[in-house]
Amino acid sequence: MMKTIFSLSVASILASNALAQSKPPGVTTPIVEDCGGFNGSVVCVNRYAAVLPYHFNRSITTLEKEYDFRNTSVTNAPSFDLLQDANFVVFDKERGLECLGDSPRWEFMFPIGDSVHEAPVYVPELNMLYMSQLPPVNAAPGDYIAQLVVNLNQTPPTLSEYLPDPPIFAPNGGVYHDGLIYWASSGGFDDIDGTEQRISLYTVDPHTNKSTAILNNYYGFYFNNLDDVTVYPPTGDLFFTDPDYPWFNGRVDTAPQLPTATYRFDPRTGATFLVDDTIQQPNGIAFSPDGKTLYVTESGALTGSIAPEVGPGTKHYNTTGRRSIYAFDVEEDGTRITNKRSFYLAQNYIPDGIKVSREGFVVAASGHGLDVIDPKGQLILRVQTNHTVSNFQFTGDEFNTVWLMGNKGISRVQWNITGQVPR
Ligand SMILES: *[C@@H]1O[C@H](CO)[C@@H](O)[C@H](O)[C@H]1NC(C)=O
Ligand SMILES: *[C@@H]1O[C@H](CO)[C@@H](O)[C@H](O)[C@H]1NC(C)=O
Ligand SMILES: *[C@@H]1O[C@H](CO)[C@@H](O)[C@H](O)[C@H]1NC(C)=O
Ligand SMILES: *[C@@H]1O[C@H](CO)[C@@H](O)[C@H](O)[C@H]1NC(C)=O
Ligand SMILES: *[C@@H]1O[C@H](CO)[C@@H](O)[C@H](O)[C@H]1NC(C)=O
Ligand SMILES: *[C@@H]1O[C@H](CO)[C@@H](O)[C@H](O)[C@H]1NC(C)=O
Ligand SMILES: *[C@@H]1O[C@H](CO)[C@@H](O)[C@H](O)[C@H]1NC(C)=O
Repeated sequence: MMKTIFSLSVASILASNALAQSKPPGVTTPIVEDCGGFNGSVVCVNRYAAVLPYHFNRSITTLEKEYDFRNTSVTNAPSFDLLQDANFVVFDKERGLECLGDSPRWEFMFPIGDSVHEAPVYVPELNMLYMSQLPPVNAAPGDYIAQLVVNLNQTPPTLSEYLPDPPIFAPNGGVYHDGLIYWASSGGFDDIDGTEQRISLYTVDPHTNKSTAILNNYYGFYFNNLDDVTVYPPTGDLFFTDPDYPWFNGRVDTAPQLPTATYRFDPRTGATFLVDDTIQQPNGIAFSPDGKTLYVTESGALTGSIAPEVGPGTKHYNTTGRRSIYAFDVEEDGTRITNKRSFYLAQNYIPDGIKVSREGFVVAASGHGLDVIDPKGQLILRVQTNHTVSNFQFTGDEFNTVWLMGNKGISRVQWNITGQVPR
């Protein structure tokens, strides 16, 4: 008897409030709003859209199609559509608008091919931005593919091809240190245009364009990738990640021989030190400005089989796989990293290249854009682009211009976040 009365009254409450089905109490209105009079290019998401009205559904990203947060279907929140064309999506209004400053701009600069573009290195004394161009997935080794350079002394900046001497096959990570470009390469074949090249760390002198290998093996084994590389400025040691992507992308003729890992390399002695082997696919790597924290991105959600019999060139994306940024403490002398902790789960695709701004904001490339995260792991804002962003670099006198690159495009952001001065 009691049971019947109870269910009847629930039914009548629901019936008397039809809205309750689509808009439960707790939904903030509007969810998204135009923010700051930037002509729709900056929008604010209230309360992180923590409660969405029903029915909402975000389709799962695959290798063919990527569904950003902005692609979530939210039937009963028309304001969600404002996300579609915004260049900047602010989640923390006060700090986000301060990060953007008075005149934030996103501009599409150059259309480029549908292959990965990475390893951006800004050489301040030349005001030039160097970046790589990887061979298409499963391409035969063939000839060396030219890298790219953006001349920022021209107005507007110009893009041209760049080949150091001798050429470097498939640079994937890069950093400037002490007048030199350090490039980490990610391809290895026994015959590229008649020469053998294995995955290596190189220096390139941008004044002469001469390249020199400084590391090409771990006690005889080929590295798997040398993805991203950064420098610990007090010692000049290079920290680099070694995931498995060249095998998945058909950019090597040999299956992985080493576990995926993150290393430190001391260029004075030639010694390589394992610093972490707990990340499935370690990718981007960056130090905080005080050098006390190291961030490493994990893109294990994008992976494949390393079994030699499976063969190169097979890769899959798994939304429930690992796609987080981890933070580590850096020991006083810069030799070891400890206290690994989960820092941030990428809202889109996988976290790729990463840098830490002078203010301590962690900026990470993921999918079609950049996330700006505070040192506690709180998302402050996102830059949305119409090309994938694999990596990015701060440039300019004030280091508050950012160049973004990936597949199909190079674009530029101007805002009030400043990059660390390369040294
Ligand atoms: C604002 O956006 C509209 C539509 O995209 C455009 O026509 C207009 O020129 C923009 N105004 C400014 C000041 O940028
Ligand atoms: C979400 O959208 C996808 C793609 O349209 C669809 O296949 C799936 O059934 C939807 N799921 C829900 C719970 O609405
Ligand atoms: C996601 O939204 C953007 C912006 O409207 C659009 O260009 C893109 O095609 C959408 N992605 C998918 C997979 O539908
Ligand atoms: C730019 O950021 C700094 C903090 O780094 C802040 O003091 C300043 O107010 C910001 N500028 C604007 C226009 O918001
Ligand atoms: C090095 O390459 C740059 C960019 O292509 C070019 O402008 C410069 O002349 C080259 N320098 C030398 C010494 O060849
Ligand atoms: C996706 O990842 C999850 C968690 O790592 C795993 O359990 C699952 O088997 C994976 N699915 C595929 C299709 O690889
Ligand atoms: C991105 O948008 C710009 C206009 O802002 C357009 O010129 C460019 O072709 C677009 N690129 C891609 C890859 O869709």
